[in-house]
Amino acid sequence: MPPGWTLSRGIVLTYPVCEHKDMLRIRVLHGPNLNLLGTREQSIYGTLSLDALDSAITKLAKELAVTVDLRQSNSEGELVTWIQEARTGYDGIIINPAAYTHTSIAIRDAIAAVGLPTVEVHLSNIHQREEFRHRSYVAGVAIGQISGLGPTGYLLALRGLHDHLTASRRQKKTPAPATARRKAKGTR
Ligand code: DQA
Repeated sequence: MPPGWTLSRGIVLTYPVCEHKDMLRIRVLHGPNLNLLGTREQSIYGTLSLDALDSAITKLAKELAVTVDLRQSNSEGELVTWIQEARTGYDGIIINPAAYTHTSIAIRDAIAAVGLPTVEVHLSNIHQREEFRHRSYVAGVAIGQISGLGPTGYLLALRGLHDHLTASRRQKKTPAPATARRKAKGTR
């Protein structure tokens, strides 16, 4: 049921959740073990729970007038399916692939296949940690990587992806100046 007010005698007044059709839509994916945030290795990942992190992302998304769809999975296949599904109806992806960062060619291939601008996020600085965490299979197909800034990294990723998508929308709408058009066509 959509949100609304309950009046007397069981009458419920509802109103539509307004989502502008031009709103940017971003899918946010959290990989394995991130459901344990807040209790998991607190000295590395901090004390914020995944729910609290998702609330902070949702709050910023509202300020930026972006629709976010937030999901967590411990399964590589499920993450691949969600990335594939994002090609219809989403403008970009923010992903913390967690341990799959360092192992998953399938997640990398899915991101390359959908071709959506994707930002990779890590709470910890993976480049300062064990050698096996230094390699990311995802980095090569992402527009950027944010690593080591804790939960703030997700908020920066959202702002960055919002700016990136807004700029490319604007570019698509703005006709190229006549000289550039002539050059592109090879005419004088
Ligand atoms: C992580 C870093 C990964 O190496 C690790 O496997 C994770 C979390 C991070 O957010 O810092 O699970 O992606």
